[in-house]
Amino acid sequence: MAQLPLDVRERVEKLRELIEYHNYRYYVLDDPVISDAEFDGLMRELSRLESEHPELITPDSPTQRVGGKPAEGFATVIHRVPMLSLQNAYSFQELREFDARVKRFLGVGQVEYVCELKIDGLAISLEYSNGRFVKGATRGDGVTGEDVTHNIRTIKSIPMRLRGDDEADLDVRGEVYMIKSEFEKLNEERSRRGEALFANPRNAAAGSLRQLDPKITASRPLNAFLYAIGFSNKRFETHMQVLAYLKSVGFRVNPNIQIAHDIEEAIEYCRRWGDQRDTLDYEIDGVVIKVNSLRYQEMLGATAKNPRWAVAFKFEARQATTKIKDIKVQVGRTGALTPLAILEPVRLAGSVVSRATLHNEDYVRSKDIRIGDTVIVQKAGDVIPEVVKVVEDERTGQERQFVMPDRCPECGAEVVRLEGEAVARCVGLRCPAQLREGIEHFASRDAMDIEGMGPALVSQLVDKGLVHDFADLYNLTIEDLVGLERMGNKSAQNLLASIEESKKRGLSRVLYALGIRHVGENVARVLAEHFHSIEALMSARYEDLMAIPEIGPKIAYSIKSFFDEEANRDVIQRLMKSGVVMGEEEKAVSEGASSRPLAGKKFVLTGALEHFSRKEAEDLIRELGGEVSGSVSSKTDYVVVGQDPGSKFDRARQLGVPTIDEEEFLKMIKR
Ligand code: IVH
Repeated sequence: MAQLPLDVRERVEKLRELIEYHNYRYYVLDDPVISDAEFDGLMRELSRLESEHPELITPDSPTQRVGGKPAEGFATVIHRVPMLSLQNAYSFQELREFDARVKRFLGVGQVEYVCELKIDGLAISLEYSNGRFVKGATRGDGVTGEDVTHNIRTIKSIPMRLRGDDEADLDVRGEVYMIKSEFEKLNEERSRRGEALFANPRNAAAGSLRQLDPKITASRPLNAFLYAIGFSNKRFETHMQVLAYLKSVGFRVNPNIQIAHDIEEAIEYCRRWGDQRDTLDYEIDGVVIKVNSLRYQEMLGATAKNPRWAVAFKFEARQATTKIKDIKVQVGRTGALTPLAILEPVRLAGSVVSRATLHNEDYVRSKDIRIGDTVIVQKAGDVIPEVVKVVEDERTGQERQFVMPDRCPECGAEVVRLEGEAVARCVGLRCPAQLREGIEHFASRDAMDIEGMGPALVSQLVDKGLVHDFADLYNLTIEDLVGLERMGNKSAQNLLASIEESKKRGLSRVLYALGIRHVGENVARVLAEHFHSIEALMSARYEDLMAIPEIGPKIAYSIKSFFDEEANRDVIQRLMKSGVVMGEEEKAVSEGASSRPLAGKKFVLTGALEHFSRKEAEDLIRELGGEVSGSVSSKTDYVVVGQDPGSKFDRARQLGVPTIDEEEFLKMIKR
């Protein structure tokens, strides 16, 4: 071998160290200290030296993260220590039973646990020898997995060399996953290219890691959290120490891990994350509870399949498979026709689901959803369940295509779909479906807040011809109501009282309640603050509306056309006659906006507050002249931080935006 100048070897080594360090800053800490261009410069220099001196290339070199030829198939890996799975628990009762078993087995009165989020991805094992990454494998059946070393190298947050530990011989265990927004982006691209969609981020992560061509894996945004050591030449006393060690040598460890001093604290953690799972940008499907002491873990041991020292608390599934019995069309308050899948009832995220939205005609076409199809349905947060994917293998050939009707199923009027719009609409002026939906919206909590005015009652009022528009609500009499289904004298009186009460909601609520297209709560508030009375708004010209910063041509046009319509003006006149307040309600405004204590201040809220719901706090800030925004920017004046704040808190600290706790907030508003 030709003698190499010593400094080349040294420079190559130095570059690798630098690149690995900056990778770590960027991908693990999310806190880069050099620019992308500088980083590229280091990479280019290393590539050049390696191509001039190929004998210096090592498998753990950063240049080897992307590259390698596609494999013929995956080699099998026998795990040095098998990868067990966890026993599942579906109720808090089962967790208490787990705790009782652990304590009985150990003969102790109390056990400390570590609570971790159960990342919904795919389990991997990473082998390090002398602190260097040598092999990566999937879990497989737990005893043997697939060798995905080349693909693991493409995941930049996985270290190729451990920081400050050249001696470690380890198998590190963790989960590879894809963040939700990247998953959606990937699916959008695939849909554009006419490729099959992934049902969820987990499938997308698994499909990406199990690619024979590492270049494809490299193009997919994968990430990893590490949470255990399978095999090691080191000794630790607690699981927390293991996690701290993993973090110290450069692995990403989930930041939401927490000690529970007893099972009740662990249950509290499960409850909290069950409520908050949507605030994360990755999917979790439960919580893993582990005995902290490794001595205890050893004493407890394992059954053939599961360790006795850990349990997985599983959240209710959010996806389920079922069949579409029929596709119906629902007419909304703006006349929009929404195709709705009628499903064979299936249990999903805590309730039984028998219908799911198909959004619009294009959605049905692009996913090729047919009547009779077996499909995956999904529910996230409070949203209506949706059909995400067809299980094509289940097709029998009997499935039928859905056709959007050309007449409204409710009133028979023509259905029109304007060019460039995804939505088909019923143009019927007297469509009862639109009326029903409109009245439900008018009476809803954030609008006129008429208690007791639910869908069943609204249907009856419309079908019996008692209500033809919003103004009719204020002419209802006790005689009209008594005799409707489930309406006694007492409830009729209560209803009339809440109708009466609703007259005082004030201009911005009325504007929102009217259901003018593109006028949501925010725009309604802006209009009320600007015009102070409905008369002023009704006589506003297009230019007057456009002069308001928050209002663009689409909204201005919509408002103008609404008030130009004779029938709408008539309804408003009648509402006014009935005593519905449509002047400026907010006393604060008459004092002048700038004299209000929070005037001009921009707030962002994160975490749960003790004294208010999120909505109450937002309303209060606005009432006192402040503004509320959903995201932190350098223009934000204060971030109010409650219990378990989300990423907005970190963002505030990054940007140096002042953060205040609830107490300081209360002081600020003098409550
Ligand atoms: S511990 C022997 N911790 O859940 C215990 N597992 O059936 C090893 N998972 O296959 C697992 N997040 O894929 C553990 N924080 C976490 C986890 C986690 C997700 C997965 C893992 C495992 C399955 C349990």
